Amino acid sequence: MSLKIGFIGVGGIASLHIESLKKIEDAEIVSIFDVNRENASKAAESTGAQVMDSAEDVLDPSRIDAVFICTPQFARGNLEELAATRGIHLFVEKPLGLNMEDVRRKERIILDAGIIHSVGYCLRYLDTVQQAKAYLHGRQAHLIQAYRFGGSHPAQWWHQLDMSGGHLVDAVTHQVDMIRYLAGEFHEVEAKFGRVSFDAQQKQGTIYDAGSITFSMEQGTIGSITESCFSVHHSASDVKLFGPDFFVHLSNNGFTLTIVDENQNETMTSTMEPYFEQCKTFIDAIARNTQESILSSYSDAARTLAVTLAANQSSLEHTALQL
Ligand SMILES: NC(=O)c1ccc[n+]([C@@H]2O[C@H](COP(=O)([O-])OP(=O)(O)OC[C@H]3O[C@@H](n4cnc5c(N)ncnc54)[C@H](O)[C@@H]3O)[C@@H](O)[C@H]2O)c1
Repeated sequence: MSLKIGFIGVGGIASLHIESLKKIEDAEIVSIFDVNRENASKAAESTGAQVMDSAEDVLDPSRIDAVFICTPQFARGNLEELAATRGIHLFVEKPLGLNMEDVRRKERIILDAGIIHSVGYCLRYLDTVQQAKAYLHGRQAHLIQAYRFGGSHPAQWWHQLDMSGGHLVDAVTHQVDMIRYLAGEFHEVEAKFGRVSFDAQQKQGTIYDAGSITFSMEQGTIGSITESCFSVHHSASDVKLFGPDFFVHLSNNGFTLTIVDENQNETMTSTMEPYFEQCKTFIDAIARNTQESILSSYSDAARTLAVTLAANQSSLEHTALQL
């Protein structure tokens, strides 16, 4: 039997999920809502789904089994709670929000409802990331270096700190999540942000153009993350883990993995489509009624958000903050 799916928010990322779902036989997109009617109509045309008048109308358990919430993080309201209390399985994009209290409240409701839930930390589904995780099991890095340099999201909301949380909360969250996935939990973060170039060029918005974050992990590993969303001539998204007898390097947003130790110096590049794997895993998990294969649960994603929000807060308070 085909699983009936609703979409709330059908912008950039939703279109990738829609393309993935079209390739999955057991899934059918039946309802769509977007505040931008044109976006909703386009997505409806390509899927045969019905455009609804409100997000609440999408969340009708007699019409859908699962919902994809792909609105930006400032525009989630109580959608996750509504879905959970109505018994609708939930896929929601990262980052989970901008306020930990709201996210913790939603987490409790989702767990109590017992629905299947998955969050868009898609890079976890790469075979390269899985191989790095397997290799690092039982090994401890003493140093982690991560960075993400590149451009900005074109949408206006992304450039407002109170709507997106900035580059770290919105995009570098993938690297923070990868560090957590591979090396355990963060203990303390201290961050500095600037907007020298944005100011010089009188760019609209309130987000930072550069950030530098230092951190320690619960197991004693220390590290740093540097990031810029205004780097026109150089893009990169890497995580490097240094151990006494190994070096693990995930580059190219996790698609390329190099492992160096006394027995090997191997590089592999993934050909996987992580958005598809993530969608397929979510649909299969619902069919089998088990959360087991989902690689990023709501609770897990909440811990990643907590790290990035603590970094933002640390820069305002000019002090290190513990998680
Ligand atoms: N997992 C990933 O790799 C990944 C990649 C890109 C974006 N994202 C996340 O996905 C979310 C959306 O990003 P995007 O790039 O698709 O943004 P976008 O601006 O391209 O699209 C957002 C869509 O949501 C709609 N929208 C806004 N407010 C709404 C509301 N209240 N109700 C219904 N629809 C509303 C907009 O009209 C637009 O169509 C963000 O949280 C972003 O961080 C995740």
